[in-house]
Amino acid sequence: MTSTSSDALIFFGATGDLAYKKIFPALQAMVRRGHLNVPIIGVAYSKWDLEQFKARAKDSLEKHGGLDPEAWEKLDGLLHYIDGDYDNPETFSKLRNSLGNAQQPLYYMAIPPSLFAVVAEGLAEAGCTKNARVVIEKPFGRDLASAQELNRVLHRFFPEESIFRIDHYLGKEPVQNLIYFRFANPFVEMGWSNQYLESVQITMAESFGVLGRGKLYEELGAIRDVVQNHMLHVVACLAMDWPEGHEGECMREARGKLLKEVRVLEPSQVVRGQFRGYRHEPGVAPDSQVETFAAVQFFIDNERWAGVPFCVRVGKCLPCTVTEIIVRVKPSLHPMLEESSPLANYYRFRLSPDVLIALGARIKKPGEKMEGERIELIAHHQPPGEMDPYERLLGDASRGDASLFARQDSVEVSWQIVDAILDNVTPLVEYEPNTWGPPAMTQAFVPKGGWHNPQPHE
Ligand code: BG6
Repeated sequence: MTSTSSDALIFFGATGDLAYKKIFPALQAMVRRGHLNVPIIGVAYSKWDLEQFKARAKDSLEKHGGLDPEAWEKLDGLLHYIDGDYDNPETFSKLRNSLGNAQQPLYYMAIPPSLFAVVAEGLAEAGCTKNARVVIEKPFGRDLASAQELNRVLHRFFPEESIFRIDHYLGKEPVQNLIYFRFANPFVEMGWSNQYLESVQITMAESFGVLGRGKLYEELGAIRDVVQNHMLHVVACLAMDWPEGHEGECMREARGKLLKEVRVLEPSQVVRGQFRGYRHEPGVAPDSQVETFAAVQFFIDNERWAGVPFCVRVGKCLPCTVTEIIVRVKPSLHPMLEESSPLANYYRFRLSPDVLIALGARIKKPGEKMEGERIELIAHHQPPGEMDPYERLLGDASRGDASLFARQDSVEVSWQIVDAILDNVTPLVEYEPNTWGPPAMTQAFVPKGGWHNPQPHE
């Protein structure tokens, strides 16, 4: 396979929620930057025509980030639409015809995982897979066994280098910056190990519930939705070793190697919660045992990280929508420094909604005593969104650059890490909306110095 740019972009699930919220805005942004000028074919089974499809695209842009008239005019000219059932071979022969002379199409599966195999088979039978690339949305499987099975199915039609498994967290600018900040600054990397660091905590808080996605969320729960993928990738970016080489594949190798060193979780290492009111959401079972909150503690079994807990908590209906990391440095107190309680140094990385890198440091309080106080040095602060992750990742996939996509082994090992805590194997505790999760959280996996509750506004 050559590494040229894809010459057609086809997305399945074109009338769905993901397309509406993320894909159309990403396509407009790509057109605006001059990065997209190939036919874009939406495929769905909604009994729509091209005009309805274009109206949906326009509406999506108006609601998500704004319509840019110049870019829209170009995008409008690139859009095509095929309406058809994925079980029906006719859908794929229509697609074959629409592809015309395209040599290297990029297929984006913005569809439920249960349909991945059906669509892949349909494409193969219609002779549409030759030289093609395929982008698969998360969740990639629902446990280790199903992820392995899905990989087997996809490999029947696509070689590994043509499969792009999306985890949009990897495409986020601040997640990229975690890696850059670590490796570009020797003063950080020199102290980046268990010799100097005490704990890492990651909070992914969302103030909203399941936003009408109750039926889908019932199939997931917080561990499948964001821990197995987004959170483990953040852990990998924080803890991986320096990639050996410049190629994108080296980056994937470094992340994958780290994930293989994360200790498999046991049921005693999770607290699961469900916000009060979840069971009344449309599509949710009245006795649902699905968690909307999870806290887990990862350990990494290698020399660099032995003994450093990576505490992660994620949840819906928490007091604010913020994702933040605190990396705490071990306190070192000289006897001359009069401190009743040591004030540890820390790094604070805020991944969203705004982007921030801050360092917690100590300075001397004015006065006679050698007594300190903590200050925070804001090293970097920028408003949200230079480039949306979907724009970045779609562009990368269409150029055949897989560095920000999950490789088969990483996906499987991530499932292996959480496999024993999936479903209803641990108690589920109710929590009040607008709190920081179940009361049990006050005792469980508290990183030294306590959980830091992020503030909504900086
Ligand atoms: C998605 C999850 O992958 O990530 C959602 O399915 C979650 O439940 C979302 O809300 C969060 O992404 P972001 O980019 O808004 O932090």
